[in-house]
Amino acid sequence: MSRVASVKIGLLGCGTVGGGVIRLIERHRAYLAAKVGAPLEIVRVLVRELDAPRVPECRREWLTTDPEQVLSEELDVVVEVLGGEEPAGALLRRALARGASVVTANKLLLARQGPALLGEAVEAGVDLAFEASVGGGIPIVRTLREALTSDWVGSLHGILNGTCNYILTEMQRRRAGFEEMLAEAQALGYAEAEPSLDVDGHDAAQKLVVLSMLAFGAKVDAARVPTEGIRKIDQLDFHYADRFGYTIKHLAIGREHGEALSLRVHPALVAKSSVFANIDGVLNGVRVIGEALGPCLLVGRGAGEMPTAVSVVADIVDVARSRREGEPGLATRGIQLQERPLLPLEDVESRYYLRFDVEDRPGVLGGIANGLAAEGVSIEQMVQDGRARALEQPVSVLIITHVTREGAVQRALEAISRQPFLRGPARLLRIEDV
Ligand code: NDP
Ligand code: HSE
Repeated sequence: MSRVASVKIGLLGCGTVGGGVIRLIERHRAYLAAKVGAPLEIVRVLVRELDAPRVPECRREWLTTDPEQVLSEELDVVVEVLGGEEPAGALLRRALARGASVVTANKLLLARQGPALLGEAVEAGVDLAFEASVGGGIPIVRTLREALTSDWVGSLHGILNGTCNYILTEMQRRRAGFEEMLAEAQALGYAEAEPSLDVDGHDAAQKLVVLSMLAFGAKVDAARVPTEGIRKIDQLDFHYADRFGYTIKHLAIGREHGEALSLRVHPALVAKSSVFANIDGVLNGVRVIGEALGPCLLVGRGAGEMPTAVSVVADIVDVARSRREGEPGLATRGIQLQERPLLPLEDVESRYYLRFDVEDRPGVLGGIANGLAAEGVSIEQMVQDGRARALEQPVSVLIITHVTREGAVQRALEAISRQPFLRGPARLLRIEDV
């Protein structure tokens, strides 16, 4: 009886995601073999620490700390779930050059080296697949690359970082502190090894760069995407956002303005009636607006062991099937990229939530209103709660502006920040109609 050759897999990394990949492959062994037409066989697993705890399905004999022992095997697929730029990038290049197809969950690497790595995959005639790099278990990469390939995408909005969404949701729901909720997100396996990538917005910016390749065909340098995290959001912001009818979400936004693109990542006020307001906890959501299709929303678990493994293993199945059917590299060759200019943040138009913590004395409101008026920023709503218990305690003045250019608001804040009545830096949050 002839035996079908297995699909040989080298796994780089066996942490949260790598462990989930092994579990899923073992759990669905027969089912996946039927889909691919051959069994999936893990040959080697690269780790840093041989004796660190692993999922029970991970066999001791697979493990090595020597990348050569993985890459010297005759592999069909190399799966990179190490994280970080190097040595991940160098190892992927070597795998591609040896003719293996590559699956990666590494958005940091893709944001920094994606176009070059895609070029090398095309040259080698193999696939570079990266569904898990954005949205965890949500099939947003496949949706943009395949399902929407016939349409013109004009804009996308995403809650792209599960850690930030978990922290914001729980801070609001339980009135919990930032550090405590970050520790929970880390324990649940959502956060990056370096969690400032999550909470300072860089992870979401990297994911936005990856989505921009597919949605807008754009080569973008992540360092040029205006990026803000969630560290400064406090309970007062949740309180006042709620009072104005909003909640606070960390958003990644991409929009076409002719040839230019506006890309930005920051916390924003979202109306409580918006679907985005109810995408909570570790859930991610991406809304894409296609010219012909209109809006299309994908929501699901954006981080964690098994949701992310679903995307990685789906990519393994895809690239293994293309190899077996003699068409490796087809999906990767379809990704076309070009440089596109970025619209500066000061030219973006929005409504704004402004919070000024000020001394409670005559002339303060006038000073704020004059500072805004001098830059043509028009006030839509304003709130100042009663006098502080002690005179030396600051009070908060909250303002919602009409739609205005960001440059004008920033100039007004700069002028107001020089006023002696201000007791802390002014807070600016954009209001997104999403
Ligand atoms: P972990 O830190 O949990 O796991 C990393 C794994 O890689 C560990 O097994 C570690 O070995 C190994 N490793 C790291 N550096 C080296 C090195 N230089 N040499 C050998 N082995 C190394 O990370 P995650 O599993 O959370 O993330 C992996 C990737 O997936 C990242 O790119 C991340 O951004 C991405 N991702 C993560 C998601 C999540 O929910 N966690 C979701 C989507 C994507 P050892 O175990 O011995 O330390
Ligand atoms: N640290 C990431 C997040 C993992 O929290 O979204 C998923 O990419």
